Amino acid sequence: MKRVSLTQYLVEEQRLNNTIPAELRLLIEVVARACKSIAHSVGKGALGDILGSADTENIQGEVQKKLDVISNEILLEANEWGGHLAAMASEEMESIHPIPNRYPKGEYMLLFDPLDGSSNIDVNVSIGTIFSVLKAPEGMGDPTEADFMQAGSKQVAAGYAVYGPQTMLVLTTGHGVNCFTLDREMGSWVLTQRDMKIPSATKEFAINMSNQRHWHPPVQRYVSELLAGATGPRGKDFNMRWIASMVADVHRILNRGGIFMYPADLRDTSTPGKLRLMYEANPMAFIVEQAGGAATDGVRRIMDIAPEKLHQRVPVFLGSKEEVEVVTGYHQA
Ligand code: AHG
Ligand code: MN
Ligand code: MN
Ligand code: MN
Repeated sequence: MKRVSLTQYLVEEQRLNNTIPAELRLLIEVVARACKSIAHSVGKGALGDILGSADTENIQGEVQKKLDVISNEILLEANEWGGHLAAMASEEMESIHPIPNRYPKGEYMLLFDPLDGSSNIDVNVSIGTIFSVLKAPEGMGDPTEADFMQAGSKQVAAGYAVYGPQTMLVLTTGHGVNCFTLDREMGSWVLTQRDMKIPSATKEFAINMSNQRHWHPPVQRYVSELLAGATGPRGKDFNMRWIASMVADVHRILNRGGIFMYPADLRDTSTPGKLRLMYEANPMAFIVEQAGGAATDGVRRIMDIAPEKLHQRVPVFLGSKEEVEVVTGYHQA
């Protein structure tokens, strides 16, 4: 089989199909290189002194793991000097990170969850990196948080890396979804799945069941119907999986279908849900829709939400279209 590298794929997309501008191609290559570097650190584990807590807190009130901080640094350093970005934003930084004046500024803005699935770092379970790319607004001066407040439908690229038994990069620029596997000996990303599609029907769901007592009625109804199995209203048995790394759960769904839910619950007042719109929900929604799936907050399409804050949280229902439609329908009933 002829091997196609990420570089070759991107060059051909730019040249033959005109779907990726040269600057965006460079940006994606740099992010992919940073993910390779994160994968290298992840792989060292205890040998690289990367496990455990950093004893600091992020803006979300979470205790940062060493790897949250290391991955954030790797992404910042890799992307600062390339000339393709105006600013960056991250789960691990309170405010945006404008490109320092010593470097040229570009026309894109990058958002990331540097390390997704932090609770799985120390137990050697799959974790990942999620990223989203926006265009800087026309005529933008010094970038501000307001420049980032664009709906997910404005994303020009999104992707994630999953650090698991294999390291993979899943990417969309709005023309389908492709998956690349890291060849660890060669240090290169090789195209291994073209045009990934999520089956529209599924018998598998993902939710943190320990929060059940806090759920709102539409989610209670939906999950209880799934649990009722073949003799219940849904007429089939469902299986459940929950990895607690969104990247790993979404990756499974992209490959064999399923629905992923992180709903709002009765404890939430001002900040519904747990996941963050700008660097978790939006990029995953873009990928899932490009693979033929759907993504809502229970009511609206995730990518239609007008963001108000960088670290805004949002309820998430995404994956196989038929199931996302059922649970979204229950919210409207
Ligand atoms: P992060 O590690 O980037 O803070 O994200 C964690 C998220 C997501 O990856 C996962 O789906 C969810 O939190 C797990 O939540 P529970 O701890 O409630 O299972
Ligand atoms: Mn976190
Ligand atoms: Mn995350
Ligand atoms: Mn994270």
